Amino acid sequence: MSNVKVAPSLLSADPANLAADVISVKDAGADLLHLDIMDGHFVPNLTYGPQVAESLTRFGVPLDVHLMVDNPERIVPLFLPYASYLTVHVEAAPHLHRILQSIKDRGVKAGVALNPATPPETISYVTDLVDLVVVMAVNPGWGGQKCLTGMERKVRAVKGIALSSGRDIDIEVDGGVTHENAGLFVSAGATILVSGSYLFKAPDRRNAIIALRESTA
Ligand code: DX5
Ligand code: ZN
Repeated sequence: MSNVKVAPSLLSADPANLAADVISVKDAGADLLHLDIMDGHFVPNLTYGPQVAESLTRFGVPLDVHLMVDNPERIVPLFLPYASYLTVHVEAAPHLHRILQSIKDRGVKAGVALNPATPPETISYVTDLVDLVVVMAVNPGWGGQKCLTGMERKVRAVKGIALSSGRDIDIEVDGGVTHENAGLFVSAGATILVSGSYLFKAPDRRNAIIALRESTA
């Protein structure tokens, strides 16, 4: 049995039936709820505010909040009370040490996300402050996109950097994850898989989560 965690992306849930979808993935074995926050600037799309995060805490599944926003230093404080993991994009955060420290100071796990074209070495100087690296396998903005090729190579490179830091750093893959590519990512070093469209479209969500966890390269 693999230890990989599965984090359903609520972007693929039915917004008019969010509670039912959250209960369904919780019952299916979800480890985290992945909440995609989009600001209409860093990415063209818009999603939820902190009230939705607050409300989702009642289900008792830790929130993995992925901020796809410009000026994340303004948005981070809004989500800190509700997040278990709070992730900012390196491309949007020029003062990365400062913002990661502000997350850790609140006892929340600090994440850094890398767009597909961003090199893995960008995390080298912040490994002492990072608990999670999110390797984007699609350009962020929408669910349901196809995973770009070669992203397992980046996962492997991030894994190498994490290992040489000597710290326990989770590596999450986000975008286009399915039972067909999950094994490749896990064997490259991924410890958390985000799943949106694959999981929410699956006829049996429990089986889909098992398929993600057990898939081999
Ligand atoms: C993309 C989001 C992802 C996405 C995942 O901008 O960050 O979390 O919703 O959904 P799928 O699994 O459908 O790519
Ligand atoms: Zn995401």
